Parts: sequence; C-alpha cells; structure tokens
Amino acid sequence: MTVDLVVKHATVVTPDGKVPDAGIAIDDGTIVSLGRSGQLPDAERTIDANGSVVVPGVIDTHIHNREPGLEYKGDWESATRAAAAGGVTTVVGMPNTDPVIDRPEALELKFERGEAAAHVDFQSYAVVTSENVDRIPALDAAGALGFKIFLGSTVGDVPAPTDGEILDAMTAIRETGKRLGFHEENGEIIDHYERQYRAAGKNRPIDHAHSRPVLAEREAVERMITFASDRDVPIHMFHVSSGDAADAVARGKERGVDVTAETAPHYLWFTESVLEEKGNVARVQPPIRSTDQHERLWEQFSAGVIDCIATDHAPHTDEEKLVDDPFGDTWAAISGFVGLETQVPAMLTFVDEGRLELEEWVYHHSTRPAQVWGMYPQKGSLRIGTDADLTIVDTDEAWTLEDRHALHSKNTVTPFEGESFVGRAHTTIVRGQVVYEDGRVTGEPGDGTRVDVD
Ligand code: NCD
Ligand code: ZN
Ligand code: ZN
Repeated sequence: MTVDLVVKHATVVTPDGKVPDAGIAIDDGTIVSLGRSGQLPDAERTIDANGSVVVPGVIDTHIHNREPGLEYKGDWESATRAAAAGGVTTVVGMPNTDPVIDRPEALELKFERGEAAAHVDFQSYAVVTSENVDRIPALDAAGALGFKIFLGSTVGDVPAPTDGEILDAMTAIRETGKRLGFHEENGEIIDHYERQYRAAGKNRPIDHAHSRPVLAEREAVERMITFASDRDVPIHMFHVSSGDAADAVARGKERGVDVTAETAPHYLWFTESVLEEKGNVARVQPPIRSTDQHERLWEQFSAGVIDCIATDHAPHTDEEKLVDDPFGDTWAAISGFVGLETQVPAMLTFVDEGRLELEEWVYHHSTRPAQVWGMYPQKGSLRIGTDADLTIVDTDEAWTLEDRHALHSKNTVTPFEGESFVGRAHTTIVRGQVVYEDGRVTGEPGDGTRVDVD
C-alpha cells in the first residue's frame, strides 16, 4: 500500500506522552497509521521531520475573522493564512461581524465565505442577544459550534441581554447540547467607570485598563456560574485575564458546574506595565492585569483550572490602534490585536522556560479545545481514522519578532512586536495537505472546510 503522505523521524507528542523516532501515515486526509519511523508504509511524499516535534494540529477557538462585513480589518483568507503560518489547523470565528451572526442566514453566509477563502479548517459561534433567543434551535441546526453572549460592551457594541433573557437562552441552549461562552465583564460596572474616568480626564492607556476592574470580570464569572448551575447548561469563559476570575472558575468547577475557561498568551506573557511601554497597541478587553493578578492566573493555569489557550486574535487598522501616537487619548483607540502567529512561539517559550511541559501545552492548545467545543476526537487526538491535522514545531529556535509586517494578517498591530521567543511552527498540515512549510503558505484559499458538529 502506498499512502499519500508520511511524516517520520519525529518526536510525536500528545497529552499522553512523547514518542521519539516515530511517524504518522496519512491517506485521503485521514491518519491511517502511527508507528516507528521504520515501520510506516511507502508514501507519495515523505517529510523527514529530522527530530522535530509533531503534535495534533493547534486549535484556536477565539479569533475575530471579521468576515462578513468588516473586511477592512481582516477576512477569512487573511486570518487563516496567518493561522497556517502560525501552525494553527482549526480556527473558530467570533460573531461580532457585520451583520452579527444572530440568525441562520448570517451563519450560512459566514460559512460560505469561509469555504471559499479559508486555508485551514474553521467554525463559528452564534451570538445571543435580546432579539434572538427564539432562534437558538435554528442556529443550532445551521451548524453553529456553540453560542456567545457579550455581557459587557466591547468591540462591535453587541448589547447584552438582561439576566432574565440569559436564563431563557440557557434553557434553550441546554436542549441543543452545545456550550454557551461569555465575554465576561459586568457591563454596568465597566460603563460606570468609563464615564467616571472620561469625565476626570483620565485618558492614558493604563487608565483604560483600570476602568475595567478585575471585580467586573470576577462578578460576571460568578453570576454566570450561578445561572448555569440552576439551568444545568455547559458554559465557557472566554479570555480569562485575572487570578480572581480564574479563582471563580475553580470554585465553579469544585461545585460541579460544567464551566470551562480559556486564557490568551498575552495575559500569560505581559503585565500591565506593557501599557506604559507600548501604549494603546496593548489595549485589549479584558485588559492586561497587574503583576499580582497575572501571577495568580499563572497559578491557576498551572493547576489545570484554565482548559484552553486561545488568542482573541482581533485585527484593527493602524489608525484605529493609534499606532502613530500610541500614548494618545486612549478613548480614541480601539481594543484588540492580532495573535495567530505569536501564540505557538509564546507557549513554546514557556515550555523552554520550564513553566509547562510539552504534553501540557498540547493538551491546552489542541486536545482540550477540541473536547470543550465538541470537535474531539476528529480534531485534537492524532487517533487512527481522524483528520490528519499536524503541527510540526522547532522547539529550539530562538528568534525575535523584529517587524510585525512579516506577519500574514491583513492588519498586524501586536504588542508582541519586539518580543523574543524560543520555538515556532515550521510545517502545518490540514487533513493531509501541507498548507505551510519553509516560511511559505503553500495551500490555496478554499483548502479549509467547516468542521461538522452534530
Ligand atoms: C475584540 C474585538 O476587537 O472584536 N477586542 C478585544 O479587545 N478583545 C472583542 C472582544 O473579544 O471582546
Ligand atoms: Zn470578548
Ligand atoms: Zn474576542
């Protein structure tokens, strides 16, 4: 038997451990065997990994792909090109597009655009607002991966439903078997302080961070855990930024609530001093926190409380980010920055520093996200018969992101410019197709497809 592709002489790493001098055989987009390098079948093409680490394809379940409607910021093609170049094989798009993804027609349009343009596999959340609780079954049937509620105002100004409407939404989502995630900041608290800060003329980048206190995040986590425990619905906390919010997630898990959480590399890498160094470039919601909150977030991440790593990749133009005047009036700047191509390097740098094991990285960045969002074992497992999504990484390469314009996103503002890393992805394989190698995106728009979930 001759298969399509064999990757050999790799150290294959899964959450279960590391296997040296191993390889993977792929046919028709699927993993057909795993074994020692010498025992794999013949192939049309063989990639000699030369001792590199091969892991189940990295999954980023939090990107703002911006399409439909906000293509001036980014689109499916540019986001998934960046994903391929960053070693990411599946992405999940957020619903704060234009139109917002609040009805089946909008979701179908988003999927159609993705089928035409994506370099890697993709999915999307549907949003729940005051207006569309009755459309939850239809959004489920149209194939949404899960649901999202914005509790506090953020980019896109999607209004938060009332607490009563959230309870109704939870009852409806429970019937779908899917998970409900939150932008968890208490909207009344952050709106109140924003008004107060603006009136007092506090307009530095760090003032924006302080106007959205940790308390607003923690309270939102606790309230949603209380609601979910009553309605018996699985929930998820997007972009957990603080030790206090992580502690609240831990308490929810201890109580037996099905609450999962993610954090982003920027919360693990930076503390709020980055706002004094890089200004509005590092402005994000929720904000990058104090050293104390950052260290306690790390403690909870190390303890396993945070399930997933996801970027919150959020491209904006240089003008929107006030790049020419990074310390200008923060209320004129927008929140969010790109992350697809710096997440694997950041996490591998933490591995290099001894802050986590490679197996733990794979768990949080591939296996666990697939489980949380119902894509496992098709994604995130490396099991025979599943999608042949692989990320091949060099764990030793030391490098610096000298110039953000080398990134593949349409807009490239990131606080990681100028940061130094150890490790990066050098080859990305989606369902057996090499979409990135040797510094080049080798796939075509449309290679990616929607991940089907029931
Ligand atoms: C996100 C965006 O730009 O869409 N911005 C951000 O600061 N995180 C919105 C969000 O995730 O809340
Ligand atoms: Zn958010
Ligand atoms: Zn986001």
